[in-house]
Amino acid sequence: MKISLATVGFAVPLIAGLVLAFIGHPVVQAPPQPVTASAPAGSLSAAAAPPATSGFVLNSVSVELPTSDTAFPGGAKADAITANCLSCHSAGMVLTQPDLSKAAWTGIVEKMIHAYKAPVAETDVAAIVDYLQETKGAK
Ligand code: HEC
Repeated sequence: MKISLATVGFAVPLIAGLVLAFIGHPVVQAPPQPVTASAPAGSLSAAAAPPATSGFVLNSVSVELPTSDTAFPGGAKADAITANCLSCHSAGMVLTQPDLSKAAWTGIVEKMIHAYKAPVAETDVAAIVDYLQETKGAK
């Protein structure tokens, strides 16, 4: 079969048209609408007021976070726990936990180190567990 120029001239636009129809119509996005600040006509206080152009007002707030003065009792025995355990929570938080076995305290200290990434000196772990056992150990 001889393919004439007329056949090619007809077939190529037809195939291209079918491909374009298959791909679909390009989605034309609506241009962003300009944000207009509409102060009431004749209002002179608009410049001093906080910006409220899009229907909400930004206000400053101050938040007082709780602090704790509770220290671990026991003098020098508490040095290891004081040095390693107060960066994330208070001594009171630890001291109000239930009395636990030494194994349970060891597990909690390990959890602090491995799950919560507490930067605890490896050499302090035994002293911390001993302190917890002595102060909050299951009787
Ligand atoms: C990197 C921060 C961080 C450090 C440092 C840290 N902890 Fe924690 N601790 C946590 C987080 C987080 C929790 C979970 C708090 C919660 O569940 O509300 C937690 C919970 C606890 C609890 C509650 C019981 C439990 O199993 O969740 C105890 C007791 C405790 N920590 C003791 C310690 C001791 C002892 C040390 C020092 C070895 C220590 N923590 C150091 C982050 C820390």
